Amino acid sequence: QTRPGLSLLVLLCYRQLLPCLWIKDEHSLDDFYNETKAKIFLQFYDQTAKVVLNQFMETTRNYVTNITRKNQEEMLHKDMERSQFMIYFGIRACLFKVAQFQAQDVNRTLRKLQNIDKAALPKDELREYNELLADMEMTYSMAQVCLNETACLSLEPELEEVMATSRNKEELLWAWQGWRDAVGCQIRTTFEHYVELSNKATQLNGYKDMGALWRSKYELDTLKQDLEWFFQELRPLYLNLHTYMHWALHRHYGPELIDLRGPIPAHLRGNMWAQSSVNILDLVLPFSKKIPEDVTKIMKGQHWKSEKMFEDSEKFFTSLGLLPAPPSFWKKSMLMRPTDGQEVECHTSAWNSYLDDDFGIKKCMEVTIEDLLSIFHEMGHIQYFLQYKNLSIIFCEGANPAFEEAVGSVITLSASSHKHLLNIGLLSLKHQDSEDEVNFLMRIALEKIKIFDGTIRKDIYNQEWWNLRLKYQGLCPPVPHSEEDFDPGAKFHISAGVYFLSLVLQFQFHETLCKASGHMGPLHQCDIYNSKIAGKLLGDALKLGSSKPWPEVLKMLTGESEVCIKALMTYFIPLLNWLVTDNMQQGDILGWPDFSCSFEEKDTDKVTFLNLKLDPNQAKFGYWVLLALGFVMSLVVLGLVCRLHSLEKQSLTQDTEIFSPLPNAYFLGIAMEPRQTAKRQWMLLGLCLVLMLRTPPWVRAEWWSWD
Ligand SMILES: *[C@@H]1O[C@H](CO)[C@@H](O)[C@H](O)[C@H]1NC(C)=O
Ligand SMILES: *[C@@H]1O[C@H](CO)[C@@H](O)[C@H](O)[C@H]1NC(C)=O
Ligand SMILES: *[C@@H]1O[C@H](CO)[C@@H](O)[C@H](O)[C@H]1NC(C)=O
Ligand SMILES: *[C@@H]1O[C@H](CO)[C@@H](O)[C@H](O)[C@H]1NC(C)=O
Ligand SMILES: *[C@@H]1O[C@H](CO)[C@@H](O)[C@H](O)[C@H]1NC(C)=O
Ligand SMILES: [Zn+2]
Repeated sequence: QTRPGLSLLVLLCYRQLLPCLWIKDEHSLDDFYNETKAKIFLQFYDQTAKVVLNQFMETTRNYVTNITRKNQEEMLHKDMERSQFMIYFGIRACLFKVAQFQAQDVNRTLRKLQNIDKAALPKDELREYNELLADMEMTYSMAQVCLNETACLSLEPELEEVMATSRNKEELLWAWQGWRDAVGCQIRTTFEHYVELSNKATQLNGYKDMGALWRSKYELDTLKQDLEWFFQELRPLYLNLHTYMHWALHRHYGPELIDLRGPIPAHLRGNMWAQSSVNILDLVLPFSKKIPEDVTKIMKGQHWKSEKMFEDSEKFFTSLGLLPAPPSFWKKSMLMRPTDGQEVECHTSAWNSYLDDDFGIKKCMEVTIEDLLSIFHEMGHIQYFLQYKNLSIIFCEGANPAFEEAVGSVITLSASSHKHLLNIGLLSLKHQDSEDEVNFLMRIALEKIKIFDGTIRKDIYNQEWWNLRLKYQGLCPPVPHSEEDFDPGAKFHISAGVYFLSLVLQFQFHETLCKASGHMGPLHQCDIYNSKIAGKLLGDALKLGSSKPWPEVLKMLTGESEVCIKALMTYFIPLLNWLVTDNMQQGDILGWPDFSCSFEEKDTDKVTFLNLKLDPNQAKFGYWVLLALGFVMSLVVLGLVCRLHSLEKQSLTQDTEIFSPLPNAYFLGIAMEPRQTAKRQWMLLGLCLVLMLRTPPWVRAEWWSWD
């Protein structure tokens, strides 16, 4: 059986494997793969990629807005074509000798092209991978939970609504468990296989695991430490928020449901995926006598329609002097779940078809403030598409994945401000006193900050891979530790990374834009609506796409080249102060005492050394000791070889010269004939050598590659 994946890998490694070939006498090839040629090559890529990607996106859009077997087939077919295309360019991109190139963006483009992603899989496995993905999406979109033979509910919007509005614990558990039974267990084996293939593709691309792939997308070596640092800084806010919510829910549901020493049960958090807890605001409102105005109710009272929600969010962008959505956007977007019984995938997303201003949003919208804000977020993606569309296609993506998410979210920060909602007539009370402000900030916190505990893994997602990972994994609750079993290679905190980074970035952007717009006063009161200066600042950063390393884009936008958590803390400081006081009065233990927070992943940072779990530094030391021992041993062996050799020679000459009684030699304390001794000693030496060269099974390859 041929292994196309393997031969591909060899080709990809060509540069690395045969460096000598590159240096010596290759003038003809040098000329062929020089910078001029690279530019022509990239132009060619640009033109063809537009067509290939467009066709793929078209069939995908067609499929997700009209789920049928036929449409799925078409999409899978185009996906295979796209993969072939990526292999074609990926392999060629490896051949250029970037070391001598002058233009940095040619360098970057070629590097990006070399990561061919899942296309690195052998063809049959690639096909399987795509099919698994499509099948999971299909199951997910069509699954329903039935009350009885006639009444069945699908996730969006019915079940989500139950999760959001019901305060009946039996009903909540029914919806939560019902959905997981309908989807989770059915999809589980598919998902495991899918993860296997994903990991394989990652490794074929030359990354150790998904984590390494993720870090490479950020082009920043210190990403992991940075994230850990953010988490430490965010800890006070997290712990206090979590503790407070715990108590508030305890008050409402009682001690038999809420164990103050355990996590908050997943079905009581107001959301199927515990992504946001804003739906249970009424249960955890800090000042319960000052009930905030119900914006959703006001919207319904004013007969808002989905079109108006889109138009309003577009108006926000144009008020900043940013670009309006192109006419085709309105034709192609799917704003509501179709009423003609057609199956669709409701998961909210924005797509870019890379050709002729063809952008769109898919959403099964309801008239609620949450959905309005989520449209603002999606319109942020559309704005990014519009701004970078003139770039070479390979740079048509966000500066990094978290940046992309932060762009939409920064607008929602302004749009959800009291000032803005008042302006567009969704609030009527002009004045906000300090108690209202704490209530308001609690709302934003529940919306933005996911309340973590032991189940953190399920809470965070952004990119499609993580979407699926988080949607489908560990969904059959009675299986303990299922998450770990799934893909030990994929370090979870990188997925949390996108979420954290985008959380921190959006507040950093917000502060910058507010400053530019001339806002005075507390950060949470800022609304950048109408500020052309803020709009210009944002637009200029978006225009760069991913053509520059993201710290440069960040610097351009904010004046700082590092991600900084200060703005987020400034924003929430009134809330944090209140929470600290309140929690102190309750005399609570902060956090989730019986659940170690898996974000820290203390365990997985351990390295196995001689079957012991040690932390990397200890293990490193151990290996140095082993190495030193090994070195000493080799010297000893070498010495022994020399000595044995000379001894043998000696005894041989003795043998031939005199027929005297044989002198006794000793081998391991046993007296025997010198020749025999020599033979055995040679054998022993040989054994030592074999043992030294062959790595014993307990010393794995991991030890030198932890990061
Ligand atoms: C690249 O190679 C071509 C011939 O294939 C040659 O005409 C051109 O001058 C070379 N360019 C550079 C920058 O060396
Ligand atoms: C959905 O796709 C099928 C083909 O699989 C097509 O016949 C049908 O017209 C499409 N429906 C809509 C509403 O586009
Ligand atoms: C392009 O990349 C190579 C190797 O990664 C590097 O040596 C070279 O300096 C880069 N050129 C530019 C202009 O950055
Ligand atoms: C199914 O449940 C719905 C909602 O509870 C109810 O209105 C309907 O009458 C039930 N139908 C049957 C056949 O039991
Ligand atoms: C893209 O190029 C067109 C034509 O040159 C120009 O009109 C448009 O303003 C550019 N778009 C952006 C976002 O720069
Ligand atoms: Zn998004």
